[in-house]
Amino acid sequence: MASPRIAIFPGSFDPPTLGHMDIVRRASAIFDTVIVALLDNPSKTPMFSGADRVALLKKSAAGLANVRVESFHGLLVDFAKAQQATVVVRGIRGAADLDYERQMADTNRHLYPEMDTILLTPSPAVAHISATLVRDIANLGGSVRGLVPDAVEAAIVTRPHAGRTQQV
Ligand code: PNS
Repeated sequence: MASPRIAIFPGSFDPPTLGHMDIVRRASAIFDTVIVALLDNPSKTPMFSGADRVALLKKSAAGLANVRVESFHGLLVDFAKAQQATVVVRGIRGAADLDYERQMADTNRHLYPEMDTILLTPSPAVAHISATLVRDIANLGGSVRGLVPDAVEAAIVTRPHAGRTQQV
């Protein structure tokens, strides 16, 4: 019997958006198992902690039985080897994403030639969504409805600094 096809969808997911979830859904229809892998990067100050982002991703992917959410530190290739995954999935919204994604894919291939990266395009309805812009909108007190899953919207609205604009 062929081994199960395990794919990893890595990212910062700060916060998880409807664009991310569109890619998770597409990947879950292609692979036996999809591991959404959150890089918990201690050198960054995120909007939500790693544990909060894992919880939000789990809530947002609750309907997808073959999707797991994990966090990782260090190199993606080491995490992929530990999970016995040989495919990385990333979303590509347009030409602006391509150079960055190609460079990461080629670097990961250099480090782990047995692993391939598959770039999926999201639905046009969510292709404009970026976590960076969602953070900007949230920090400036705007509504993020329609940009993020309901659970993420609720967490943004109720977070301690909600509605406050940044002081300069
Ligand atoms: O959502 P992001 O921030 O664009 O995701 C970037 C991510 C987490 C996929 C990338 O930074 C990553 O894989 N980092 C792990 C460290 C690593 O393996 N670096 C070398 C290969 S690019």
